[in-house]
Amino acid sequence: MTPRVRTAILISGRGSNMSALITAAQRPDYPAAIALVLSDRLEAAGLGVARREGVAAEALDFRAFPDKPSFETAMNARLREADVELICLAGFMRVLSANFVARWKGRILNIHPSLLPDLRGLHTHERALAEGRKEHGCTVHQVVAELDAGPIVAQARVPVLPDDDSDTLAARVLEQEHRIYPQALEAAARAFLAGREL
Ligand code: GRF
Repeated sequence: MTPRVRTAILISGRGSNMSALITAAQRPDYPAAIALVLSDRLEAAGLGVARREGVAAEALDFRAFPDKPSFETAMNARLREADVELICLAGFMRVLSANFVARWKGRILNIHPSLLPDLRGLHTHERALAEGRKEHGCTVHQVVAELDAGPIVAQARVPVLPDDDSDTLAARVLEQEHRIYPQALEAAARAFLAGREL
């Protein structure tokens, strides 16, 4: 049997990338297992989606904690308790502290809806259109303390079409996100199993 790296997915919202990872991990030869989904918001729609797929999914309500360090301490404890080895951020809308990132050095992936290093931060589709870009896309990268700045693991490009609005462009990018994130996690899990850095 393929050994599987215990992976957590952190979400804040609908969780369509989370779903793509869960589906991929249902393959018998996939090297990662989704051990836990954690959300920082009680109302994240992705929690229900994960549970319907038989994946343990819990909310750690950010607003219930006095500050970010206490929230991250609780999250870290929950991840350790579940024997998590890799973390995938999938629409997780909180910036992790340098301290948290250091504890999980080289073991956190994120998907970002732009061709990094271009268009870090929020509202990437609107900004791609406003700047008149001809090409846009998405990137899976390792998480480092600086926002959207870690080493790139996978990238996919899409054209920006003349009559695009941010919704049509986002949908074209999202389709690619769902394709490359499972591939990137697969590569990361295989590297982890081989004791290699990504
Ligand atoms: C995606 O566009 C992802 O790139 C960004 O947040 C969005 C999350 O969407 N980080 P979903 O929750 O995975 O559907």
